[in-house]
Amino acid sequence: MSEQGNTSDKVVTRAWWVLILTTLVVGGVGFFLIVVLGNQIEVEDPIVENFTPTDLFVQPDAEWNTSVLVAKSPETREIRKLTWFVFAIAGGIFLVVEGLLLYAIFRYRRTKKQRLEETGEPVQLYGSNPVEIAWTIIPIIIVLVLCLATIRTIQTVQPTKNDRPENALTVEVIGHRWWWEFRYPELDVVTANEMYIPVDRPIWLEIGSADVIHSFWVPELQGKMDAIPAHTNYWKLTAEKVGTYLGQCAEYCGNQHANMLIRVVVLDESGFDGWAKEQARPADNITSEQVDLGRKVFLKYACQSCHAVAGVSEGTYAPDLTHLMSRKTFAGGMIPNTPDNLKAWIDDPAQIKPGSDMPALKLTPQEIEQVVAYLVTLK
Ligand code: CUA
Repeated sequence: MSEQGNTSDKVVTRAWWVLILTTLVVGGVGFFLIVVLGNQIEVEDPIVENFTPTDLFVQPDAEWNTSVLVAKSPETREIRKLTWFVFAIAGGIFLVVEGLLLYAIFRYRRTKKQRLEETGEPVQLYGSNPVEIAWTIIPIIIVLVLCLATIRTIQTVQPTKNDRPENALTVEVIGHRWWWEFRYPELDVVTANEMYIPVDRPIWLEIGSADVIHSFWVPELQGKMDAIPAHTNYWKLTAEKVGTYLGQCAEYCGNQHANMLIRVVVLDESGFDGWAKEQARPADNITSEQVDLGRKVFLKYACQSCHAVAGVSEGTYAPDLTHLMSRKTFAGGMIPNTPDNLKAWIDDPAQIKPGSDMPALKLTPQEIEQVVAYLVTLK
């Protein structure tokens, strides 16, 4: 018996050494490959090579927050309450389990004396009805509590089709690869990527998709809601503070999924009314030689078959450009909306956003100048 005990001890010790050495060797080789060789490899990056404007990519403002723990609407406060409740229960379980584990490790540690006197396997124990019952009943109760708390929160936060508040403002949210369309049926307004809403008024969102499944998510204002083709999901939110809130498509939808941003701009009532009035009017009809040439370029090429400009073209496949320059960004909220960036984008969209449906129309530099001169009049 005693000899058998010694042999198995040796086997265990040897196994530990094999494990430690293997880890060191694999880790060392991995470290060498990644850190030492990785730095030698030069990655060809077309964006870095061909574009140098420092403001090409949007830098988030300091006050923007996409943490699920920052709640700025009644809906997100409910969600945060549930988050902390679940965290507290999980944390309590963690402390009890780890505490018992540590207690057992130290309290029942084998002493040196015991090891010398050992004559084989320790006493084996099988079965204990009270323990079996306890660890069956307690988890059932915990799961039940978590389940009921979650159902309660879902009922508070998630509306059904008939829950539209009387005074709500309706916004149709349509996910596209890779940008967001916002339509305001009551106001006759269509815009992209930047959703303007009034403060303290319930917003009724009717969420759908033009292609694949996306997910509308502005963490400070509401939880996630899927945008599904040929199906409408209803969502409701109320912003309590004026400001800009950042959101993100939250369902993987292709290679530019990360560049499908949402900005929710919350204005006071008069500010919002002013914005809506501006957006609802047709495009300015400014004329100058350069602008007229640009409008002709816009109409001559495929631009007009995808993009609408109220009174000029009727495309619906791509963002409505009637008030393009009222937006801070374009290309799914990815790029600051400046004339230089528009030129780079029109020249070759794939350089900036590979996979985008916007084609490079092979315009001459002169035509690009002209069409951008026209676009910047769309205020
Ligand atoms: Cu759209 Cu991810």
